[in-house]
Amino acid sequence: MSSNLDQLYRQVIMDHYKNPRNKGELSDDSVTIHMNNPTCGDRIQLHLKIEDGKIMDAKFDGEGCSISLSSASMMTQAIKGLSVEEAQKLAHIFYNMMLGKEYEIENFDLGDIEALQGVSKFPARIKCATLAWKAMEKGVGSQTEKQ
Ligand code: FES
Repeated sequence: MSSNLDQLYRQVIMDHYKNPRNKGELSDDSVTIHMNNPTCGDRIQLHLKIEDGKIMDAKFDGEGCSISLSSASMMTQAIKGLSVEEAQKLAHIFYNMMLGKEYEIENFDLGDIEALQGVSKFPARIKCATLAWKAMEKGVGSQTEKQ
């Protein structure tokens, strides 16, 4: 990766870290998920509002490193308006990206998420980047089980 692109990606990550999108709580959420990264103890709470199989809103809060919190910010931005199945698909695309595997973006607009692809070179940080996504999968899973 060129160093210019690296630098741009770093700026995007820091922007999400310093100005997180969708930070806070939802008064009318369908599910709240608490999840922590066992390797460091950092944690996030994710609030999802799910209606008719669609993610209507998402907010998060937490304590963690720049990678974990910027990833949570990007994730909440990306999943709003998606169906549960689409959000699960997007999580798998993201996991492949983190593992440095080939990934098909299909019809998704990855937007800022692509700024995290460099994390795949730092295996110890992958759990930071996937924390919010695992929380989202758990949240949508618990909702689908209920139906
Ligand atoms: Fe704890 Fe990144 S160091 S989530």
